[in-house]
Amino acid sequence: MFELNPPEETARAAVRASVEFSAYLRGLIAARRANPGPDLITALIAAHDEDDRLSEQEIVSTCVLLLNAGHEATVNATANGWRVLFRHPEQLALLRGDHGLLPTAVEELLRYDTPVPMFARWVLDDIEVDGTVIPRGSQVALLFASANRDPERFSDPEALDLTRQDNPHISFGAGIHYCLGAPLARLEMTASFGALLRRAPRMRLVAEPEWKPGFVIRGLRELLVEV
Ligand code: HEM
Repeated sequence: MFELNPPEETARAAVRASVEFSAYLRGLIAARRANPGPDLITALIAAHDEDDRLSEQEIVSTCVLLLNAGHEATVNATANGWRVLFRHPEQLALLRGDHGLLPTAVEELLRYDTPVPMFARWVLDDIEVDGTVIPRGSQVALLFASANRDPERFSDPEALDLTRQDNPHISFGAGIHYCLGAPLARLEMTASFGALLRRAPRMRLVAEPEWKPGFVIRGLRELLVEV
């Protein structure tokens, strides 16, 4: 859905899947309307701004966005982060010795190998950036991964430093589309890295992982470890 110029067959499969998934959600929305519960879909049905409620299509779109944005990025950030740790044994040893480093470690892993290296924007008005005019109607690629290694902004940007304090990475984007789930993603990563550090203190990589194809979403096919 996010990748650039997907092959015809992939695009067809994605459309088929999204039609099926929307139908599944419509059924779920009807079930929650009949039997409200303590869940997100019930909350979206009840949500309203004065008398303006979300339409069924808006609820479906919101669920699709939350599931895709919420699941995929966090899963990839987790596996990418562990891969990076295994490649920096001295930094992993530092973290194993002091779990109190988790908050800065999570930020640094997000900076160092973001699961969303690029996102695109449509240009709504002619705009000049650094002497170059980008005309209205263009599509521009924002390279978050590149900005995260900007030597003008980060000291020693190619180094992984789990204790890095000044770390204004843009792995959650910026501006009005700044990631809605950033606080949740930070909590999830701190919890899952912390749990694995505690419960699998000797976890190690057993095979060099392969990347999934794709440019907008960066993630591993699998990460095989021994605990
Ligand atoms: C490590 C995990 C995550 C990363 C790296 C990440 C990254 C991003 C980025 C870069 C954007 C901005 C895209 C753009 O510029 O248009 C974004 C938007 C968004 N993210 Fe996340 N995200 C993560 C986790 C989550 C979670 C857990 C949720 C929700 C449960 C979530 C929900 C959203 C939503 C709804 C948007 C769209 C916001 C808007 O367009 O106004 N994300 N995310």
